Amino acid sequence: MPLKKLFEGVYRGEGRLWTENLVPGKPVYGEDLRDFNGREFRAWNPFRSKLASAIEKGLKEFPVRAGGRVLYLGSSEGTTASHLSDVIGGTGLLVGVDVSERSMKKFLELCEQRENMVPVLADANQPEGYADALEDVKVDLLYQDVSQKNQAEIFLKNARAFLGKGKPAMLCVKARSIDSAKKASRIIGDEVRLLEKEFEVRQVLELSPFEKDHALVYGRKK
Ligand SMILES: C[S@@+](CC[C@H](N)C(=O)[O-])C[C@H]1O[C@@H](n2cnc3c(N)ncnc32)[C@H](O)[C@@H]1O
Repeated sequence: MPLKKLFEGVYRGEGRLWTENLVPGKPVYGEDLRDFNGREFRAWNPFRSKLASAIEKGLKEFPVRAGGRVLYLGSSEGTTASHLSDVIGGTGLLVGVDVSERSMKKFLELCEQRENMVPVLADANQPEGYADALEDVKVDLLYQDVSQKNQAEIFLKNARAFLGKGKPAMLCVKARSIDSAKKASRIIGDEVRLLEKEFEVRQVLELSPFEKDHALVYGRKK
C-alpha cells in the first residue's frame, strides 16, 4: 500500500501515521517499523503522542520540515520528540528540555543515537538557565508539553526569550494540572485567552479520545 503525504515528513498508510526513521532498524518506544518502497518508517501512535493525536483530530498546519530547529519543553523520554527528529532530519536540530533526571537519562541515550537532538536538564520556568544552549539557534518551532499549573506562563516566558515574530508554537494544555475540579473546556478557554495576548491562535484541538481533558493550541507569535 502506498503512503499518502499529509505534511512534509508525515504520512498516512494502513490507517496509521508514519514518519521516516532517521535511524533505520531502531524503534524508540516499541512502535512498529515498516518498509514502504525501500524506506523504513516508524508508526506514530496518537495514544502515545499528543502531536500525533492533534494530527488525527484535524491539525491544519504542520509548521516544521527538514532542517527545522525545534525547542521542545517537556521532552520526557523522547516519544514525540523522536518523531519530530525524523521530520527535521539530519540537517535539523531539536533541543529537548526536561526537569526530570529520570526521563533525561533515557532521552540522553536517544540523543546518542539521534545526532539532531540535544538534551538539556533544566526547569522550563527558568529559560535563562538554558539560553546558552540556544545562543546561535533561530527557533522555527516552540513545542511545549509540561504538566504544570502555570503552563501558559512557562510557554510565554520561553516564547519571549527564544521565538521570533511570526514563528509558530504549539502548547499542549493538560487541564487537570491546572485545576482538578473546573470543567476542562473552561480551563482550556482560559489558557487560550492568556496566549492570545501574545499569539495569533490559529487552532485549538481538543484531543479526546486519545487524551482526556487535553488540548493542543497552535499559534504564531505576534
Ligand atoms: C506529559 S510528559 C511529556 C511527554 C512528551 N512530551 C512526549 O509526548 O513524549 C511531561 C513532562 O514535563 C516535564 N516537566 C514538568 N515540569 C517541568 C518543568 N518545569 N520544566 C521542564 N520539564 C518539566 C516532566 O518531567 C515530564 O517529562
